[in-house]
Amino acid sequence: MMIHPVQRVMGWTLLWTGLVVLQFVLSAAADVEEVHHSSVLQRHKREWKFNTYFAYEELLGSLLPQKIGQVRTSKRISGEGANGLFTVNNIGEIFVTATLDREKKSSYKLNAQIRNSSTKARLEPDAEFHIKVLDINDNKPIFSDIPIGSVYERAAKGTEVMTVTATDADDPTTANGNIVYTLMNGTNYFRISNQTGEYIEDSRLDRETQSQYKLVVQASDMFGQPVGHTTTTVVTVNINDINDNAPAFTGGTFRFMVKEDVKTPFEIGKLTVKDQDEKQNKNPKFTIQGNNDLFFVNRDDDGDGALIINKGLDYETNPSYSFMVTVSEADVVQPPDSQGSVVTSARVFISVLDVNEPPVFTQTEYNFQVHEGLNKNKIVGSVSASDPDKPGYKISYAIRSLKCPLEINQQTGQLTVKEELDRESEESHICEVTAQEEPPSGLISYAMVKLKVLDINDNDPVLVNGSNVYICEKDKKGEIIGTIGAFDKDINTGIFRFTLATKTSNFSLHDNLNNTASIILNHGGFKTDHSAETTLDIDISDSGSPPRKSRNTLHIRVCTCWENRREEYCRSYAQTGVSVSALIAILLCIATILVIVILFVLRKRYQKETLVALGKSAGEIHEQLVTYDEEGGGEMDTNGYDVSILSSACHSGTLRVAPGPAIYAVAKKPPACKGDMAMMIEVKKDEADHDRDGIPYDTLHIYGYEGTESLAGSLSSLDSSSVGSAVNYDFLSDWGPRFRTLAQLYGMDESDSDSSY
Ligand SMILES: *[C@@H]1O[C@H](CO)[C@@H](O)[C@H](O)[C@H]1NC(C)=O
Ligand SMILES: *[C@@H]1O[C@H](CO)[C@@H](O)[C@H](O)[C@H]1NC(C)=O
Ligand SMILES: *[C@@H]1O[C@H](CO)[C@@H](O)[C@H](O)[C@H]1NC(C)=O
Ligand SMILES: *[C@@H]1O[C@H](CO)[C@@H](O)[C@H](O)[C@H]1NC(C)=O
Ligand SMILES: *[C@@H]1O[C@H](CO)[C@@H](O)[C@H](O)[C@H]1NC(C)=O
Ligand SMILES: *[C@@H]1O[C@H](CO)[C@@H](O)[C@H](O)[C@H]1NC(C)=O
Repeated sequence: MMIHPVQRVMGWTLLWTGLVVLQFVLSAAADVEEVHHSSVLQRHKREWKFNTYFAYEELLGSLLPQKIGQVRTSKRISGEGANGLFTVNNIGEIFVTATLDREKKSSYKLNAQIRNSSTKARLEPDAEFHIKVLDINDNKPIFSDIPIGSVYERAAKGTEVMTVTATDADDPTTANGNIVYTLMNGTNYFRISNQTGEYIEDSRLDRETQSQYKLVVQASDMFGQPVGHTTTTVVTVNINDINDNAPAFTGGTFRFMVKEDVKTPFEIGKLTVKDQDEKQNKNPKFTIQGNNDLFFVNRDDDGDGALIINKGLDYETNPSYSFMVTVSEADVVQPPDSQGSVVTSARVFISVLDVNEPPVFTQTEYNFQVHEGLNKNKIVGSVSASDPDKPGYKISYAIRSLKCPLEINQQTGQLTVKEELDRESEESHICEVTAQEEPPSGLISYAMVKLKVLDINDNDPVLVNGSNVYICEKDKKGEIIGTIGAFDKDINTGIFRFTLATKTSNFSLHDNLNNTASIILNHGGFKTDHSAETTLDIDISDSGSPPRKSRNTLHIRVCTCWENRREEYCRSYAQTGVSVSALIAILLCIATILVIVILFVLRKRYQKETLVALGKSAGEIHEQLVTYDEEGGGEMDTNGYDVSILSSACHSGTLRVAPGPAIYAVAKKPPACKGDMAMMIEVKKDEADHDRDGIPYDTLHIYGYEGTESLAGSLSSLDSSSVGSAVNYDFLSDWGPRFRTLAQLYGMDESDSDSSY
């Protein structure tokens, strides 16, 4: 079908008109449409976000209220800030009425109710819309905590030193919140990355020149444009040390003085070293040029060289020293900062100072020998000392030891024997000798002199083991009756020779040539009865030079023997050693004792016979009259119990009161004799009751009481020994036939019994 051009134009026009109308309709219905698709359309271009309105923050009061948009067909809004911060008027225009702050709240959510304007009827569900607060550049960049940066010196170009960061509260998506960093000074060494805030080292740094940098950093928003805000801060960058300096002596020469007597090892002084590096990067090494075992140089804690001597110095030998010392460092970074201009070798001069030293003995110990015997003034040897300070100076010698048998010549040091020496009493002597300068300076040195006393043959040999020799009665001719030996205090006297001193027919001697000699019997027949002991003179000679000979008497005992010549009994006066007078005295003593014993035995026997004759048994004699059950009062107590009271209860009609303390007299009752046992007990009781010295508690006393019936009186030996002899036994014959035998015994033998005592 052909289309007329006009028609074609008409058609295009209609189409265009239609599109415009469509657009208008779409636009008119937009409010409603947004309700359904708001969530989807939020990120569309602003032009198309019909449900989003924009309001600037920080509007001044004079500009308020300010219209920010219009909602069609609605005069009601609700939600965040509705009808306060945001209001709507009759025709749906929305106003912001107060100052907003994006940094506090950047977006508000509200609802619009869409109703028929005349009927008020709700036409659609509530439409949500947002009010976005637009940012203005109202905040400055702010630097957060800034660390201290550090970088090693000589770090390569481009090394990162540190990071500084600033923040801006404004919207970072806009220029308001976009930060650019600028380094304000120090740019010849450092640069800063404008995006990340990192410093990058830009040149060669040297800690020894400057060890710390303070840099001013500026942060600015608005892409660093002049309209933006800026903030500056100062950051610190420390430069760390590396070993980039070689050590060097502070001078080309060092001079020291040292005393010759210092105790080694000794530090003479310091070879000061300059190394600008920090201590941990100082590691100098010192070398002494040439062969020198006297000195060495040690690195001390400060990195300096300590010059030390190994051995003692001697002014007299070498008064001064000079040598070269070099210093180097192995691990220094090449090339070092201080190349060319440094002193790496220095000359050391040492002057040895003279010190007054004590004399020095040629030896610390001298050994001399001298023969024993009287060698007075014999020269033993000599000691010698010299003064190292002044050779040939006068020295005086002395002996310090008190017990030294030597004398020293004060000038020459010659030693002579002072007293007789005896090797056998002391074989060696140790003497301390001293040497000091003359006149004395107080400096003394000592040396030891050891003197060995040599032996001479000055002691006789003596016979030993002589007691081994004895004769048995059974011994026959040719019997070896013993072996003798010899001893000599001297040394190396060799073999002893034994010979008989006098010829004798009884014995012969055989020298065994091994320092013993056997004694041989020439004939038998020796009897202990005949001879207790016989002697034999033996000569013994040693083999010293000259030899010494001694005569010794051998005492040979004569014994009776068992088998195998074991001695049983030897008669030998010499061995008892008791004199005749002593023997007589002993015998006299024995005799006296015997006589006394015999007298006692005789007396006992007589008493026994008497008792048997009286027909009484020995058991009836009450020798022990009082028995104590307690321990008693000791010897004092015997007064309280006088035996004589009991034994003589009533002799002459009255009670004999024992001689005793006065208390007894107080307690005395009227005499109540007549043999009344009861009365006797009463008296004893009474005495005990009034006895203030007595033992206070009750004790059991057993009193022996002989009674009063017997006219014979007491038979106690206590009485009989003193009274018995005076008794007349004549009355026995008057007692009748029962006592006849007794009367005969005593009456007839009265004279006998008297004479026996
Ligand atoms: C509003 O309501 C009136 C009365 O019912 C009606 O005539 C008019 O068409 C409505 N307007 C809209 C836009 O619906
Ligand atoms: C940079 O400026 C600060 C402040 O004036 C100053 O302290 C600092 O020494 C300067 N730094 C340099 C490398 O010039
Ligand atoms: C940021 O640094 C880059 C190089 O790192 C430079 O090209 C640019 O011009 C700098 N921008 C500003 C604003 O200084
Ligand atoms: C003496 O006798 C004993 C043993 O009886 C022996 O050991 C010792 O060597 C003897 N002495 C000498 C000097 O012969
Ligand atoms: C020899 O021994 C006898 C005793 O047995 C003695 O009487 C006599 O003197 C002795 N002879 C010598 C020379 O000792
Ligand atoms: C010495 O010689 C005698 C005889 O030859 C011998 O009996 C004795 O044992 C010897 N004594 C020593 C100590 O050698």
